[in-house]
Amino acid sequence: MAETLMQRLVEALPFLDRIADEVQPKVQEAVEAGGTPARNVLDGVWFEAPLHPALTDLPVGAWTATLVFDGLDIATGKEQVRHAADASLALGTAGALGAAATGLSDWRYLSGGSRRAGVLHGLLNTIGLVLSVVSLVLRATGRRNAGRLAFLAGYSVSGMAAHVGGELSYHYGLRVDRNVFEETGPDEFTPVLNEDELAQGDMRRVEVEGVGVLLSRSQGGEVCAIAATCNHFSGPLEEGEREGDTVVCPLHNSRFDLCSGEVIDGPAVFPQSRYETRLREGKIEVKASAENIQEQVT
Ligand code: FES
Repeated sequence: MAETLMQRLVEALPFLDRIADEVQPKVQEAVEAGGTPARNVLDGVWFEAPLHPALTDLPVGAWTATLVFDGLDIATGKEQVRHAADASLALGTAGALGAAATGLSDWRYLSGGSRRAGVLHGLLNTIGLVLSVVSLVLRATGRRNAGRLAFLAGYSVSGMAAHVGGELSYHYGLRVDRNVFEETGPDEFTPVLNEDELAQGDMRRVEVEGVGVLLSRSQGGEVCAIAATCNHFSGPLEEGEREGDTVVCPLHNSRFDLCSGEVIDGPAVFPQSRYETRLREGKIEVKASAENIQEQVT
């Protein structure tokens, strides 16, 4: 596969790996120290979507407003416009801190090229953030033109960082729901296993029409079925730990309800695809649920 310009760039910068080797274990330790509730907040489990891309809208929007207000200030010299420029710059800078925390949390699982790209993204964003703070200080101490220049430099560097962030999503598939690219499974009930091969408390992977399905029997005796491949980074859920009627992914500990597919703990934020089940003539049959079919990428 041909390499993109950004991939060639991160390959040419070996110091990115050295930084990652130093920093990543510390980030993992810091996030883990907050416990599961803090991890779920940073990962966006409560938001039902990755939090980092949403939070980046705040600095991008506020700093773009600063650019416009600075231009209007130069053109009109109005004091209110000048205050608006300073306020939007301060708002964007505060928002960037939140985006940085969630971005570091997302980066803690990465390896290889995506980890290096993540370091480059973080370094560029740090430069952009520092320059916006410098700009705030210069403005507050009466050196407005120097403050505007520092802001412009920071805004440009943050734009480059945003491009690298886009590559992380669109090229490396970071925080993308992996289940969406799986086959949907059968649209009619299809036998997959003898009923007596799934005891209460069991969990078994079966393949049907090109899709891996995780069958389980709940503590109440119900036969349940969800996608066997974790939607976070394709971990094999059949190798995970069962805890009551939930399963914990063996790769990064996302926890899902075995019957509804709902996310209980992140880093996954999307529910697992769910399958309908029924028992017929001693066999367990499954079929894709309507929401799986609607969600499939065409
Ligand atoms: S692959 Fe990351 S939690 Fe499952």
